[in-house]
Amino acid sequence: MKRVVNFSAGPATLPFEVLQQVQAELLDWQGSGMSVMEMSHRDKEFMSIAQAAEADLREVAGIPANYKVLFLQGGATGQFSFIPMNLLRGKQSVDFVLTGDWGKKAAKEAARYAKVNVAASSEADKFTHIPDRAGWKLDPNAAYVHVTSNETIHGVEFAADPDTGAVPLVADMSSNILSKPFDVSKYGLIYAGAQKNIGPAGVTIVIVRDDLIGQTLPNTPGIFDYKQMADNESMLNTPPCFAWYVSGLVFKWIKANGGLKAIGERNAKKAELLYGYIDAQDFYKNPVAKADRSRMNVPFVLANAELDADFLKGAKAAGLNGLKGHRSVGGMRASIYNAMTLEGVQQLVDYMKEFARTRG
Ligand SMILES: Cc1ncc(COP(=O)(O)O)c(C=O)c1O
Repeated sequence: MKRVVNFSAGPATLPFEVLQQVQAELLDWQGSGMSVMEMSHRDKEFMSIAQAAEADLREVAGIPANYKVLFLQGGATGQFSFIPMNLLRGKQSVDFVLTGDWGKKAAKEAARYAKVNVAASSEADKFTHIPDRAGWKLDPNAAYVHVTSNETIHGVEFAADPDTGAVPLVADMSSNILSKPFDVSKYGLIYAGAQKNIGPAGVTIVIVRDDLIGQTLPNTPGIFDYKQMADNESMLNTPPCFAWYVSGLVFKWIKANGGLKAIGERNAKKAELLYGYIDAQDFYKNPVAKADRSRMNVPFVLANAELDADFLKGAKAAGLNGLKGHRSVGGMRASIYNAMTLEGVQQLVDYMKEFARTRG
């Protein structure tokens, strides 16, 4: 077996130890005589898997008791709609801070349910920075303020949890959740598709303060209603059992690897290695303001775009996968989520150096 070094933006590389454990228990989960894929979600075996996953996530992320943790379906894109359905609470408008395409997509969906006020945007600068906090035009009557904590396509990340005062802060953390310590109590709601830092595609995590739920728009379907889902432990219907189970193993892996502090330090080292090289030469460039650069997704362009195809071909031959940039921005992108090792990033830098030396 030969595994690639996988820089895919998502679904993305998972910790090798987790995959090995999944393989070891695939046919017979802990003496149950069944695969997790074959268990009833109401059986005590799966209930124990589900509860352990929630408890471990609560521990790893330091989630306060007044927050519900939901394991849902529909991806982060589903949440673009489910959030306004649940969180408007009789209010008419929502604030958005736009730092990339994912925030724009979320705003477009929210506009079907509420008036969207763009409180700040860096679109005029091609989303290469986070708008200065002092210039945000927040509305004190907004139901919530939405941010995308890490814009996966543009490689722009909030370095710290933003402060929005009394108006609840909602964050799409799909591509940087659990990559460093974060303060859940600063947020009204956090959501993330699992397929980058958590586990397989198919499960979406929502962490929501309990006083914000239970006032859904009329006609909201039950499975989109956070309160109904919370009251039923995310099992109003059949949950994405296998993805939930693998996510639980990833939470245990984070604990075994020193928790979010240690994971965050490792991620900082990986990002420094790659940005350090990019900034030290002229062949590759990253356009993002240094303070706002993502530690998870590193977009870069080659000095000569005609070499892109050769760069990708050579990378593939060297076992480096998933480096093609998003179709909307072109160039390259290296996604270096939690499960990417420092050695993997070093292999990429070595390849980039060699390519620049021979082709630059
Ligand atoms: C920041 C961000 N938000 C939302 C999404 C959409 O997620 P999903 O495909 O789970 O709907 C992505 C997917 O890449 C993302 O990176």
